[in-house]
Amino acid sequence: MKITLKPLLYSVFCGLLLLASCSSGEVSPNKEELTESKKEAAEEQRLAEGKAIYESNCAGCHNSDVAGSPTPGDKADWKDRMAQGVEVMAKKSIQGFEGKKGVMQPRGGNSTLSDQEVTNAVFYMVRISQ
Ligand code: HEC
Repeated sequence: MKITLKPLLYSVFCGLLLLASCSSGEVSPNKEELTESKKEAAEEQRLAEGKAIYESNCAGCHNSDVAGSPTPGDKADWKDRMAQGVEVMAKKSIQGFEGKKGVMQPRGGNSTLSDQEVTNAVFYMVRISQ
């Protein structure tokens, strides 16, 4: 019994080692895929939140060109604006600004919106205007 068990245990041990090294080799690309899809999921989430904020707070002006506000999807009107970068546009939307076409109130006039909510809405507007 002792004689047959030892090699058996040994080969089981080796098999386990092999498995461990094999699976650890596979884990890292899987992890990368995971973080990649997590990033995508986070971005989708951000867009969905931005869309909801946009529709209830910004669309009133922006969907109908009120006071010279650029309509999302109007590529010509967004092209130059987008050149300054989403961060700058978000900052201007949070603080309010006067442009060539008109004035936008801070946070579109809704002071209860957080910086993140306004930024998400800008992110959404830019995404559908590219
Ligand atoms: C009362 C009308 C009004 C509302 C509500 C409004 N905007 Fe605007 N927005 C404007 C006008 C007008 C401009 C264009 C000003 C210009 O370029 O002359 C503008 C421009 C912008 C721009 C372009 C910025 C740039 O640098 O060219 C962004 C981004 C923007 N708004 C985001 C938002 C977001 C996000 C909301 C909702 C939270 C919002 N706006 C709500 C009137 C509005």
